[in-house]
Amino acid sequence: MQHSVALCGFMGCGKTTVGKALAKKWDVPFVDMDDYIEAEAGMRVSEIFDRFGEARFRTLEREACKTLAAGKPCIIATGGGALTFPENVQTFRDHRCRILLLDVQPQTVLRRLEGDATRPLLNRPDKEEAVKELLAKRLPLYQVAADFTVDANGEAPETIARIEMLPLWE
Ligand code: S3P
Repeated sequence: MQHSVALCGFMGCGKTTVGKALAKKWDVPFVDMDDYIEAEAGMRVSEIFDRFGEARFRTLEREACKTLAAGKPCIIATGGGALTFPENVQTFRDHRCRILLLDVQPQTVLRRLEGDATRPLLNRPDKEEAVKELLAKRLPLYQVAADFTVDANGEAPETIARIEMLPLWE
């Protein structure tokens, strides 16, 4: 593998599940950006948000993008907000990484994240509205960032089969 593949998309789109499966299939390392940030910071993402605010998290995320994009080729599951920032998109482009968008509908996100309390941005009583609004706002940004897009509303094996048909290595 000559370059990394960064999976991009909204919370609950399957970046981690699909990324891990692809990495295993292709025998390359897998890195989850939120796990990387948590290890660097020594605390959970939700704790970073609670104690230091979103702006601090975005700074750590920007640093993580720089380090991971420059590292050895691997599959990277980015955080759902990371590639809404043009600076981070540019970082991945500078290192010739391919950006792959896992495209999902709000209902898919709501179904998958039912009962989840690990996403600070969705810890709200009006979760459905929050998902719809944020996804509508972010979708055009994801689309600008992405080199490739796949429908990821189905089960992971279906999404993986779609990804395997893409010319990701050209
Ligand atoms: C965020 C998504 C999360 C995590 C943080 C912020 C976002 O990652 O980075 O809670 O802004 O969408 P996942 O997409 O892996 O849930």
